[in-house]
Amino acid sequence: AAVPAFSVEMPIPPVLQPFKADPDVDFYRLPIQPANVNVLPGLQTPALTFNGGFVGPTIRARTGRPVSLTVGNQLGEAANVHLHGGHVAAIHDGHPMDVIAPGGSRNYLYPNTQQGATLWYHDHSHHTEAEHVYYGMQGFYIIDDPAESGLNLPSGQYDVPIMLRDGLFGEDGSLLIGGDEPRNTILANGKPQPYFPVAARKYRLRLLNGALHREFFLNLGGATMYQIASDGGLLPAPVGRTEIRLSPAERTEIVVDFSRYPVGSSVVLGDSGSGPVIRFDITRTASDSSRIPSTLRALPALPTPTAVRDVRLLFDVSDPNNPLGTVNGNPFDPNRADVRIKRGTTEIWNVTNADPADFEVPHNFHMHLVQFRVLSRDGHAPDQDDLGRKDTVLIPPTKSIQVQATFGDHLGRYVYHCHYLEHSQMGMMAQMEIYS
Ligand code: C2O
Ligand code: CU
Repeated sequence: AAVPAFSVEMPIPPVLQPFKADPDVDFYRLPIQPANVNVLPGLQTPALTFNGGFVGPTIRARTGRPVSLTVGNQLGEAANVHLHGGHVAAIHDGHPMDVIAPGGSRNYLYPNTQQGATLWYHDHSHHTEAEHVYYGMQGFYIIDDPAESGLNLPSGQYDVPIMLRDGLFGEDGSLLIGGDEPRNTILANGKPQPYFPVAARKYRLRLLNGALHREFFLNLGGATMYQIASDGGLLPAPVGRTEIRLSPAERTEIVVDFSRYPVGSSVVLGDSGSGPVIRFDITRTASDSSRIPSTLRALPALPTPTAVRDVRLLFDVSDPNNPLGTVNGNPFDPNRADVRIKRGTTEIWNVTNADPADFEVPHNFHMHLVQFRVLSRDGHAPDQDDLGRKDTVLIPPTKSIQVQATFGDHLGRYVYHCHYLEHSQMGMMAQMEIYS
């Protein structure tokens, strides 16, 4: 089912409205439900959704204002919700073993004590997370931060979340997870290589890689994109980029000034690997008082680390019929705390893609609970894709990264894993226990 590029308009996922707002909490309902969605023109795609959307509705939270999310599971199988990048209590984290039974419902509380950032929510039910996310269980969770309002960045309709991913579609429109066949349909906000009408002015684009297993190398045909934020919020200052790499679950925020292009023209956001992704059509003029400030938000000083750990991500293929994902040689075991960390301490983790070179499989590394900072890659300075507060980073074959994290105020068990979800599903996941 090949669709010509730029034949459908890119939608923006609807913003979920609270059903109740107390003086200090917003209450939302977010049902998990099967739905037929329209992805390819004229065809229905059976999907697993949040509230019926192939990209779930966007939750717009605010720093300092908690969100209560009531999730009813209408799927007929266990599922759950994890707030990726969220700093939440362990019981609200959507731990892989902490699932909502079919027909059940539960409440998640997100305190939003962290700074503004583009987070996202997705299913994390162990052994089904890859399928569930692939079939649609993913959506944006944006924390707006009053501390950012003085910066005068593009906002409102000029602040656009964009979920990038891929898919393999059958002739009838069904989404196939596939074996060897490539997932070669590129989707932006759930539509294949869409166009998006814009005004000739600045936009803030919040880009998320929601694929299971694909890196995007994004470019605007050589034009400069101003990166203002990464996973965990604003960078200290904008960084001019001509290409941005995003591995699964990573986010980047860029400001693009479409006033550089005449009304009536267009510019394509492309992926160096797979071609065009979105065509931005400059359809009109608009006033623009927003800016790209020269400074954004300083990063906190790095505290002194008290421990260094080695984390090795690798496949165990000793039984060819049952390849396992492992961390330090062990597949995920929910009954085992792989590392114990005293609350409030700071550690350096040296994380290696330890597969044999001929595997040529990238991994990436994601930690729950914290935003970390990338200190180095194989002993060299981090690259531009590692800037700022990160919760997910790419580790190419045989490479390693050093990250530093401070394990803040919550206690209990949280996972860390490769965010190529087919790998974590095979066991490339481990558990840290924060104790007081
Ligand atoms: Cu995006 Cu452990 O998750
Ligand atoms: Cu992996």
